[in-house]
Amino acid sequence: MNEPQLVADCVKAMVDVVTNVPVTVKHRIGIDKGEEYGFVRDFVGTVADAGCTVFIAHARNAWLKGLSPKENREIPPLRYDVVAQLKRDFPHLTFAINGGFVADDAVLAQLQSLDGVMVGREAYHNPWWLARWDEVFFGDAANGLTRERVEERMVDYMESEAASHGTHWYSIARHMLGLRNGLPGARRWRQVWSDHRLKALPAREVMQIARTPPGASTSRADAAAMAG
Ligand SMILES: Cc1cc2nc3c(=O)[nH]c(=O)nc-3n(C[C@H](O)[C@H](O)[C@H](O)COP(=O)(O)O)c2cc1C
Repeated sequence: MNEPQLVADCVKAMVDVVTNVPVTVKHRIGIDKGEEYGFVRDFVGTVADAGCTVFIAHARNAWLKGLSPKENREIPPLRYDVVAQLKRDFPHLTFAINGGFVADDAVLAQLQSLDGVMVGREAYHNPWWLARWDEVFFGDAANGLTRERVEERMVDYMESEAASHGTHWYSIARHMLGLRNGLPGARRWRQVWSDHRLKALPAREVMQIARTPPGASTSRADAAAMAG
């Protein structure tokens, strides 16, 4: 962000060679402790002049001095009003806001004036939150999904990736461990799917073990009980 013209040149080079996909820019709203609105406004203006029309604004400054990347996602204060001002100043551009969204009402409030909301950590830790978004935010019919159905589709995916690329199911399962977040039994389900002692089993069998209530007597379930 300190070099908007350099970013603009990069964007222009990309815009010139891609045709079917948009070139988008994700950015912060300032650097270190600087809170001058003109800094981010001029950044967006310069980059937009190079042909970018879609901006994803993480509504925090990036503190380059003294914070780790993880701390930089948590400590610099969120300032959603800055993104709202960008949309007012550049109404023809598309703005999605990012940073700290964990609940429907906060997302809905932003969608009244902005074009989108990007969710990072909560999408990973609590992915089921996303399942009703099309219905809640965009008026679509209920999709009828269940967590069990999503888990089955993930197993389908694990099987197809194993067949096509030799990917072990474990590498995929580790990214779905939040699926049952908040439900009774979530901890055990997560432990089964992340138990390296079950790695030799096919994913579909691991799913069955994860679904077997603790204490139910199958030898596979006994194997899983070791996990919990
Ligand atoms: C493990 C992890 C990796 C990330 N990697 C990137 C990245 O490569 N590029 C990026 O722009 N943001 C990255 N982010 C930041 C997120 O895109 C997002 O801006 C940030 O988590 C704030 O949104 P949230 O409060 O909804 O999580 C990462 C976040 C996490 C947790």
